[in-house]
Amino acid sequence: MDARAMRGSGEIFEASVGVTVPFYRFAKHPVRCIVRTNRRSAVVYVNYAHLYHAGNFADVHKHLVLTALLTRLSEKPSPWFYLDTHAGEGLYTLKAGTRGARGEFETGVGPIFHAPSDSNIVRAYQSLLHGFNPEGILIRYPGSPLLAASLARPADRMIAIECVPERAQQLRSHLGSRSGGVHCRDGYEALGAFLPPKEQRGVILIDPPYESIRETQHLLHVLPHALSRFPRGIYVIWHPFVDPAFVSGLRRRLQTLGRVCFLDWLTTRRQGLRGSGLAVFNMPYRLGSELEDVWHKLGDLYKDSLGPVEFTQTGALPAGDPLRIRG
Ligand SMILES: C[S@@+](CC[C@H](N)C(=O)[O-])C[C@H]1O[C@@H](n2cnc3c(N)ncnc32)[C@H](O)[C@@H]1O
Repeated sequence: MDARAMRGSGEIFEASVGVTVPFYRFAKHPVRCIVRTNRRSAVVYVNYAHLYHAGNFADVHKHLVLTALLTRLSEKPSPWFYLDTHAGEGLYTLKAGTRGARGEFETGVGPIFHAPSDSNIVRAYQSLLHGFNPEGILIRYPGSPLLAASLARPADRMIAIECVPERAQQLRSHLGSRSGGVHCRDGYEALGAFLPPKEQRGVILIDPPYESIRETQHLLHVLPHALSRFPRGIYVIWHPFVDPAFVSGLRRRLQTLGRVCFLDWLTTRRQGLRGSGLAVFNMPYRLGSELEDVWHKLGDLYKDSLGPVEFTQTGALPAGDPLRIRG
């Protein structure tokens, strides 16, 4: 079954890999893309459009962690590499009344944009946001490739993959001098093509739309190869919280692949996106503790807009990390 056949069903499917896949992201008009791979052309159907969700709480969760990781890598003078396998357009308009303004940002980036904070991680993220909104009003939201480009030093290198040609083109225009790193091809296949990087240190963000059974199959098929090609890489994999069986099934599989920790932002919502999950392989030393401080304070910040929220970190951190781990 492919994405066309499943479109609009909203059901939970048991994939052949043993992981239930929640299809919670739907749009009426899937985009059919022919994507280039090393040996052949492949067809990918994409329903999901990030402009409808840009700046929501899941973006804040993912982008705070991305900011923390790249800032940490920049503490050493040697250059880093960044690979974004599902990059999107890169910049989204949030202004009320314009295309894409669905209000999700009001319970996402809205509360944190001006919030006072004593966390270096939150302040670094806010400073990036303010750089894209010099008017001091939240109008534009930078996606992961633009955040990474803003943090990159001249010698750092980034590759951003987006399979929808129009989106890849928009991303190129937003990235300006770094547009050469944008490739319109399949993000999973790109893991094989671009790893290992010559820099030998870097972050790989895998942020799929989860709208097809093949998505999780592809992820679990390519990830072991990527980890063996570049075992020291920091891999960040986003996943939604919709169905508990999906999350536990996916995590069980991920735990067999290496030292992974899970960072969750959970809400008490009963429908739609209930929470945001990040699986991080090779989390840097002490970053878990720094992030724990961030989550602690965000609970208060979001309780009025999102309702009660819970942040958890479970799994494997570097030996000696002072953070107490649950689970
Ligand atoms: C969740 S959005 C990315 C958001 C972005 N990572 C961010 O944080 O700002 C997913 C994007 O992946 C693209 N996409 C879907 N399937 C893909 C594939 N197989 N390869 C590359 N891109 C894909 C979609 O067109 C969409 O723009």
